[in-house]
Amino acid sequence: MNIGVLTGGGDCPGLNAVIRAIVRKAQSVGGHRVLGFYDSWDGVLEKRYEELDISKVRGILPKGGTILGTRRGSPFDYPDGVQRTKQVFADLGLDALVVIGGNGSLTVASMLADDHGLPIVGVPKTIDNDVVGTDATFGFQTAVQIATDAIDRLHTTAESHDRVMVIEVMGRDAGWIALHAGIAGGATAILVPEVPFNIAEVAAIVSKRHDRGRYASLVVVAEGAKPIAGTLEVPEPQLDKYGREMHGSISQVIAPELSRLTGFESRVVQLGHVQRGGTPTAYDRVLSTRFGLAAVDAVYAKAFGDMVVLNCGRIERVSMSATRGKTRTIDLALFQDVAETFFG
Ligand code: F6P
Repeated sequence: MNIGVLTGGGDCPGLNAVIRAIVRKAQSVGGHRVLGFYDSWDGVLEKRYEELDISKVRGILPKGGTILGTRRGSPFDYPDGVQRTKQVFADLGLDALVVIGGNGSLTVASMLADDHGLPIVGVPKTIDNDVVGTDATFGFQTAVQIATDAIDRLHTTAESHDRVMVIEVMGRDAGWIALHAGIAGGATAILVPEVPFNIAEVAAIVSKRHDRGRYASLVVVAEGAKPIAGTLEVPEPQLDKYGREMHGSISQVIAPELSRLTGFESRVVQLGHVQRGGTPTAYDRVLSTRFGLAAVDAVYAKAFGDMVVLNCGRIERVSMSATRGKTRTIDLALFQDVAETFFG
């Protein structure tokens, strides 16, 4: 068989571990050819790929990023993109393609598989942990650990200066990273896209904490957090070339407002892409490895249109159509029953 593999969307720690597992099972054990396409769908449309064997994946298990490169965008960006993709499958004799991606890439993969008959299986990835159908995506745990380490460090400097630190983490539609890192780091308050906030209430939480003699307040904010309408003026977000709202401004609005309302100095820390960089945690390496092996099983089973998922500790398959245009938002019980208990 000829099995293709590509990585799509934003990179995340663990992508290389998936690629390695696919190559080890399909090529080294199964004797099949594995073609790694460069730069996501660009590599497919332009026939830019390399054959992957054990020598090519040696040593990549702990490496962050993706050896194949990644891009946003898809064949649907071109009028003849689907036709060209089908032609490449035919020209290269591709029996299957494994798409490792987040919500956007999996939606594209689902459309190509179910609506256009291409033999594609999916592997969910993203630090955002927001793919519907799986209990977890790899990369998330690593991002949470990076954010938690940062919060721990910020505690001591915040305490020394009696400051309010506003720490902005990734998560445009779902606040998983903010919620988990906020709980792990002992945040004073956590602001997520799913629960619009009232800045006056956040300020009251900070003031109450200081009244108790605590000298550091750490407010963890997901980049997509939004105020309750009419409670705080936020600039209209600009759109990037993919039509996504450009984030990175909410913490800049929150911090001065908290200073104004509480009288305490504030500082903003935007963690940004450091959350996506570097080596995956052991948990993410194991999950990536299990997903990679299961993706090859999905190819052998011709389970096209499916993706591999984690369900109560087991690796299973569900239809990628579950992801189309959807976002897996946070567990509200975790926010209300656990996180909120420690606010203030
Ligand atoms: O989807 C993953 C993610 O890291 C989001 O959390 C973040 O909003 C976005 O990608 C950033 O995208 P880019 O790398 O294109 O700036």
